[in-house]
Amino acid sequence: MTEGDEDASPTGDPWDEAEYVQYPPDVKSPYSDRRSAFGEQRYGALDVAREDLEGRRRAASANWQCFGAPAALFCYTDRELGPAQWSDVGMYLQTVMLLLRAEGLHRCPQMAWAKFRESVSEIVSPPDELMLFCGMSIGYEDAAQGLERTGRAPLDETVTFIDG
Ligand SMILES: Cc1cc2nc3c(=O)[nH]c(=O)nc-3n(C[C@H](O)[C@H](O)[C@H](O)COP(=O)(O)O)c2cc1C
Repeated sequence: MTEGDEDASPTGDPWDEAEYVQYPPDVKSPYSDRRSAFGEQRYGALDVAREDLEGRRRAASANWQCFGAPAALFCYTDRELGPAQWSDVGMYLQTVMLLLRAEGLHRCPQMAWAKFRESVSEIVSPPDELMLFCGMSIGYEDAAQGLERTGRAPLDETVTFIDG
């Protein structure tokens, strides 16, 4: 939703060809519902109406300005690794994010960067076998923005406790 899944990029240029599917086209419930709820919360907080395509594009374009953050990292993975190794990438990113928090820093992982992966490559010059999974904006949160955290699914929707 905020990753720039609109038809056109903010500049009107075509997106770079996708190297992986960011969301299945017909993502099922409850994931679709959670995604819609996230979009409503995020755009609602920014005061952008659902039908305001221009506003949504403007909001999405903040992705490629790192939401004003001064630093970014770009996370690549070897495109020959299999689906199970995507969990390694997630764990690696989570560890980086926790370490950043331990230093008082904030972060926003962004798949949106994969949509401009060729431009990112010009800066990063990655080895040929690597593909860009995501970027991550890093900086200190601007508390004055007063943006509320987006919601999370309740524990009992995502975890089953079994009494032994
Ligand atoms: C792998 C991954 C990719 C994401 N990509 C984007 C993105 O491109 N743009 C965006 O605005 N949010 C993206 N998000 C969501 C935000 O990074 C962030 O997790 C969400 O806004 C909730 O923020 P909070 O954890 O600080 O509450 C992504 C999250 C993950 C885990």
